[in-house]
Amino acid sequence: MGVKLIKVSALYFVLGVSLGYYMSVAHAYHLTGVHAHVNLLGWTSMTLAGLIYILFPKAGSSMLGKIHFWLHNIGLPLMMVGLFLLLQGNSALEVLIPIGATCVLVAVILFAVNVLLNVKKEEVEARFQK
Ligand code: HEM
Ligand code: HEM
Repeated sequence: MGVKLIKVSALYFVLGVSLGYYMSVAHAYHLTGVHAHVNLLGWTSMTLAGLIYILFPKAGSSMLGKIHFWLHNIGLPLMMVGLFLLLQGNSALEVLIPIGATCVLVAVILFAVNVLLNVKKEEVEARFQK
């Protein structure tokens, strides 16, 4: 899942920075919440998780890693679309925010369990002794 997370995160990076650029040009500062979370949950968090999964392949290829990937990548777009519309004054799809946020929260908890179970210091030691 490491490479997949990094590839998806690069797309979020482009989206997050484009939105920041648009906000600056159009003075659309009400969208800060979407910009911040697209960048931080989309780009930085996913890249970090991706790098960890590449460094620790047991975690990256585990079922926990797969579920983490999918819940994060289903939840974040739902949360961001709902928040974007809400901040634009349209509350019709507000329910997407708690649904998406709950998916992301569960994804992050599974990521943490995965790290605790499958990231081992022996793997680091073996790598640096080569
Ligand atoms: C060309 C790139 C970027 C532009 C033009 C840009 C623009 C902006 C703008 C206009 C705001 C709103 C400021 C305000 O409401 O006072 C903002 C806030 C923010 N940006 Fe960016 N941004 C860029 C890249 C990034 C990146 C790469 C990250 C994170 C990895 C990031 C994280 C944030 C955060 C966390 C906030 C909220 C800060 C707060 O709550 O005060 N931005 N950005
Ligand atoms: C499911 C996960 C998350 C939820 C539901 C969530 C929710 C929120 C909420 C409700 C706010 C306050 C917005 C406001 O005052 O208008 C906020 C702000 C913020 N959060 Fe999160 N957050 C999440 C994850 C994260 C993560 C992982 C990071 C960093 C890696 C982060 C960074 C920030 C920052 C920098 C702000 C201030 C930016 C702003 O003014 O919008 N959040 N978040």
